Amino acid sequence: MFSFFKKSLPDVRFDWLGTDIHSHLLPGIDDGSPDLESSISYITSLHNLGFNKFICTPHIFMDVHPNNRDTITTALNKVLAADTIKKLGVNVSAAAEYMVDSDFGPLTKEEGGLMEMPGKYVLIEMSYLSETPDIENYVFELNVQGYKPILAHPERYNFYHGKPEKIHRFKDMGCLLQLNLLSVTGYYGREVKHTALRLLKDGVYSLAGTDFHHDKHLKGFQDARLWKDVYDQVKNYEFRNRELFGV
Ligand SMILES: [Fe+2]
Repeated sequence: MFSFFKKSLPDVRFDWLGTDIHSHLLPGIDDGSPDLESSISYITSLHNLGFNKFICTPHIFMDVHPNNRDTITTALNKVLAADTIKKLGVNVSAAAEYMVDSDFGPLTKEEGGLMEMPGKYVLIEMSYLSETPDIENYVFELNVQGYKPILAHPERYNFYHGKPEKIHRFKDMGCLLQLNLLSVTGYYGREVKHTALRLLKDGVYSLAGTDFHHDKHLKGFQDARLWKDVYDQVKNYEFRNRELFGV
């Protein structure tokens, strides 16, 4: 009986996604990896799960994590210089995850522009507690400036729970939506899981990411029991990670 149960667990791998477009794997600059050793260890573990390419997205949140192009590039270069990373043959690059609040507007006007992904994609987030006032205007302005906004983890915004139409409207505004993979496992709670599964069913996500910060996230990805009932739903969904960002 026990062996039958074990066989029913999915072989949780992410080769089919290949590229992670949201993570906090760069050392020592936000609430993610604390140091280079941890970054190398996390990237190695995620590579073992099937990821080959990482577009790391440290927070740029002026009140808490006031990063900029220099702090992010410096942290990225430390990772790229590590022998283990070179030998792994993984592709590691960096953009950012921008908190859209009153500090965000001026950043869009800075020389050198935003820390964007290839194709001018820019990852944005809001507070989990309340919707950013005028979020529509920020999304509109990004589009006017030629950026392509990606809203991170819409399923995690408590104020949209039970209101999927509020999330759908971001697509209509020209914003791609990114699922946090762990959301479907219940890692962030039942409401987040329920919302994520609903949005998958609605087909509104374009991209998926790990939003990897720490050991607990790694355990979440490695624990097949958490994925038992939901793995096929994410695996069979047509995410555009490979199409838009290669592998
Ligand atoms: Fe994040």
